[in-house]
Amino acid sequence: MTILDAIKNRRSVRTFDGTALRPDDAQKIIGFAEKVGNPYGIPIEWKLLDAKKYGLSSPVIVGTDTYIAGKMRRVPHAEEAFGYAFEKVVLFAEELGAGTTWIAGTMNRNAFEKAMELTDGEVMPCVSPLGYPAKKMSLREGIMRKGIKADSRLAFGEAFFDGSFDKPLTTESAVAIAGALEAVRLAPSAVNKQPWRVVLCGNSAHFYEKKSRGYDDGAWDIQKIDMGIALCHFDAAANELGIGTAFEISDPGIDAPDDTVYIASFKYE
Ligand SMILES: Cc1cc2nc3c(=O)[nH]c(=O)nc-3n(C[C@H](O)[C@H](O)[C@H](O)COP(=O)(O)O)c2cc1C
Repeated sequence: MTILDAIKNRRSVRTFDGTALRPDDAQKIIGFAEKVGNPYGIPIEWKLLDAKKYGLSSPVIVGTDTYIAGKMRRVPHAEEAFGYAFEKVVLFAEELGAGTTWIAGTMNRNAFEKAMELTDGEVMPCVSPLGYPAKKMSLREGIMRKGIKADSRLAFGEAFFDGSFDKPLTTESAVAIAGALEAVRLAPSAVNKQPWRVVLCGNSAHFYEKKSRGYDDGAWDIQKIDMGIALCHFDAAANELGIGTAFEISDPGIDAPDDTVYIASFKYE
């Protein structure tokens, strides 16, 4: 399976078939996670967790007892770095046929943080269950997906722009980089808010966060995790399409709408 296939096939899996995660898949996933980097160079520590041993639970997840979680220092850009790295793990699990769901909220967080041995100054942004998808979704999962319109995404020209925010980008004008932007468009995000906006200028893709109210408490911004996921999809898809990428944080000073803030850029060729 290619990364692009994994991006297209992935959905949040909340109903698992009850089979335990196979030891070889568990080994591969944790081995992959331990090696995965992020453009910010911030270290992340990963653990596979047994829900029964630590009393872990999520009210939306059924049919698996295995979770993966990561923790890191609470430093600037921790959110984007975590989003980038954890999404790489999610896509790797997808390639193995394992299901995942990004979970930031719907879990007994104290139990997870205890299992992760979280210390002062550290943060455990999200966890995910790991297992094999059930053939049929639970009723609750189906209702939840409808409620957050989990299957819909913004149109290309609503999220991507040509030089300035008042000029929507078309797939035709995006030419070679359209495939990488399509990968961004399909990304998962908290409550499916899709905060990513991208402005193409010359050979640079500038990533912005359109902030929704209530997601940034000043110390932590969950939508920056979504931005890390968007950066991951762009980078991975571009590279797979044979396009080289170079990450940089260098605000191009483009006029942006209210509540839309610069995050980072990729130069590509
Ligand atoms: C940072 C982040 C946090 C999320 N937190 C939760 C959560 O707490 N509970 C949950 O059920 N889903 C959570 N999700 C999953 C999203 O609801 C889901 O990705 C989105 O609705 C799109 O659906 P899809 O993943 O099936 O494409 C989260 C996703 C992200 C990216």
